[in-house]
Amino acid sequence: MIKREDVTKIMDAIKIEDVIGAFVPLKKRGVNYIGLCPFHDEKTPSFNVNPVKGIFKCFGCGEGGSAISFLMKHQHYTYYESLKWLADFYHIKIEETELSEEEKQERTERDRLFHANEFAQRYFQDILFNDPEGVSVGLSYFEERCITKETIKRWGLGYCKNSWTDFCDAALREGFTMEELANAGVVVRNEEKKSYYDRFKARVTFPIYNVGGRVLGFSARILSSDKSKAKYVNSPESLIYSKSRVLFGLHLAKESIAKEDLCYLVEGNMDAIMMNQCGVCNVVATSGTALTEPQIALIKRYTRNVTVLYDGDNAGIKATFKAVNLFLEQGLNVRTVLFPDGDDPDSFARKHTRDEFKAFLENNSQNFILYKTNLLLQQAEGDPVRRAELIKDIVHTISLVPDMLERSTYIQQCSSVLQVDEATLAKALKDQLRKNAVNKAKQQAKEESFSQTDVPITERSSLAFSQQKDKLVENPDYEQEKGIISILLKYGEEETNQDVYDESGVLEKKSIPVAMFVVCDIANDDVDFNDELFAKVFAKYKKSIYENQTIPSAKEFIYDQDDGIRQLAAGILVDGKTISPLWTEKNVSVPKPEDQDIRDKLIFQSLLSFKLSKINSYIKKINEKISKTTDPDKAFELLSENKRLTDLRNKIAAMLNRVFSN
Ligand code: CTP
Ligand code: MN
Repeated sequence: MIKREDVTKIMDAIKIEDVIGAFVPLKKRGVNYIGLCPFHDEKTPSFNVNPVKGIFKCFGCGEGGSAISFLMKHQHYTYYESLKWLADFYHIKIEETELSEEEKQERTERDRLFHANEFAQRYFQDILFNDPEGVSVGLSYFEERCITKETIKRWGLGYCKNSWTDFCDAALREGFTMEELANAGVVVRNEEKKSYYDRFKARVTFPIYNVGGRVLGFSARILSSDKSKAKYVNSPESLIYSKSRVLFGLHLAKESIAKEDLCYLVEGNMDAIMMNQCGVCNVVATSGTALTEPQIALIKRYTRNVTVLYDGDNAGIKATFKAVNLFLEQGLNVRTVLFPDGDDPDSFARKHTRDEFKAFLENNSQNFILYKTNLLLQQAEGDPVRRAELIKDIVHTISLVPDMLERSTYIQQCSSVLQVDEATLAKALKDQLRKNAVNKAKQQAKEESFSQTDVPITERSSLAFSQQKDKLVENPDYEQEKGIISILLKYGEEETNQDVYDESGVLEKKSIPVAMFVVCDIANDDVDFNDELFAKVFAKYKKSIYENQTIPSAKEFIYDQDDGIRQLAAGILVDGKTISPLWTEKNVSVPKPEDQDIRDKLIFQSLLSFKLSKINSYIKKINEKISKTTDPDKAFELLSENKRLTDLRNKIAAMLNRVFSN
């Protein structure tokens, strides 16, 4: 227990922005601070810290409270541990009295696992620096690998002695129970033989930390090159450790990732450590496992830009391709760097200074889609069958990119690299997008029927599901409609240069707000959106522009009282990326959606695709009617309508081709 006076001292010292700022990068916004919420996945900051009131509140997920509730929630500390952390943070000396009954109970199972791991971390490091075996075996190994003492301390590295129970005995003496140690994974227990031993025996230990810097487990490397033994022994999954939800090194990298707005991804723990020592700090390791969605969500808290530094061998390339598809699906920008033969980030970091390393990464990082295209192109040389497969593969990868404008950009780039007509690629992309949508609906149907077996379906969930399915499968214009709404939400208030009619009916190039251009154009043609939500959003734009001559800002939709609109708008804006300055190619000129004329072209193109899609749907409907009608007059009327629409379609298609080809 902490003495009353000390608690008061701590309370007086707390500045919530410092406390939260220790874990979450915050920016000052007026009197408040904002940042990306650590409790849910978001792209635009809705996490607010109010220094005056001493509270935080996330407008995205609703999480909120004081500095102490932040520590309890974020660090999984107990109330008591939060106070101790704060005392330490503000250098306040506290006097502790015996644990109260209540406090003893507060040490939940999770806490005990953290404590066991943290004790192990301190113990292994103590051995490394102070025990003769630790120094001669462990420390000298790190020295051999050029790891400095400072780095060892920063990463909490250590050594577990070549003894069956050295650590375990020490932990038991410290008051930990065998059950705790076994649950934490630091000790292996054999129930039958009633024996136990240190899991990391005779290995150097790399603690695995959570984002907040608490120890969840270890990765321990063998020192010999004995091929019969596993190179690494890792902590098993536990109540606190789940390997698919952790990125090695993130606790040290997060600030730098946010600052540089870029995350380097490597495979090996050693790679991350050496890059950090070299001064390239925005790096995390996947620790040799396939990347998972929760890991990507972790990265997304800090940046949208990832550069993958995997090996250039076949396995590495395969792993890269997989990782990248996942990144693209989650809306991240991905680049890749290939190291010169025989080098990996670890060896490269040892041979170069920080500036050299950074320059190397900057000069050698390639836009992933172009990298993949070029690589596959080499492999497919002179083989038409493989070439066709390659185009399919690339188009599939492009179809995973959530942002429509970016997909178009990629199509343009690949068309020039592959020497394939842009319209052909665009068509293939459209087909692939439809396929993806159908697959997604099928997948959802599967999940739905699966969950039906053990969970009673509520009316609401089955309704939501059928709406989703309708949207994807039964609205053939879905992608095009979404394209228009995305443009409105993302760029509505900005200016675009377009051909518009002036008062006397003459076409002239004019700069007008994007929303004005898009809404008027669509309203003139009197087309409707099939999707109910898109229609609502569009109606709001139309009303505001026609009645008040003002363009609604995206915020109005994010805070809209309609759940559906709010979610839709947030979803679209979350997908949107600010493309970093790194996004320029060395030798290929990359059109960027930020380039004014590219964007103008893409907006015009989206409008045309939207109309084309609409007209195709109308024509289909008319043809159905024609096939059903028995009345010759009616049939004639329908046929002439069909002719009118077909002409219009051909006209628009021709315009679209022209946009594509110049
Ligand atoms: N890994 C593992 N178990 C193994 C081999 C590898 O868990 N048997 C994980 C480790 O997290 C390792 C990563 O996969 O960091 C990458 O493997 P590798 O490149 O072999 O490891 P490095 O850390 O680079 O090791 P070193 O450079 O010391 O050989
Ligand atoms: Mn390595």
